Amino acid sequence: MFRAEWKAAYETGHQRIDFEHRIFLDLIRQIEAELTSDAPVEKISRRLTELYKYADFHFFSEEGIMLDLSFPEYDAHRKIHLALLDELSRFILSMSIDLIRQDDLIGFLVNWFSSHTAREDIKIADFTRARIKGQE
Ligand SMILES: [Fe+2]
Repeated sequence: MFRAEWKAAYETGHQRIDFEHRIFLDLIRQIEAELTSDAPVEKISRRLTELYKYADFHFFSEEGIMLDLSFPEYDAHRKIHLALLDELSRFILSMSIDLIRQDDLIGFLVNWFSSHTAREDIKIADFTRARIKGQE
């Protein structure tokens, strides 16, 4: 079973990115708790919209960090962000809220979050570290 808990693997080492990722995971945890306590469908639906809006903000913020750093893989990373947002919105829209299965929903969200964080965002942090090292 997927758990919406912070793991060392999510730690990119970039302070701002990690801070925003923690908020993202916190929103998933909130949805998990609300599903467990049988919160009204409207509440879950609103929270999913909040999560989408936060993801949109977070990606924009992360793209700003990449531009500031002249990150060479900016274009490719931005394309991934757009695809991820599209995937998230399609997932949310396709959900028949009455049929929500908690494991499916949380599993999708945690997987969506963790695969990008551990595979792609870590590259921004690595690039930052290499640049700092090169300036020493
Ligand atoms: Fe990213």
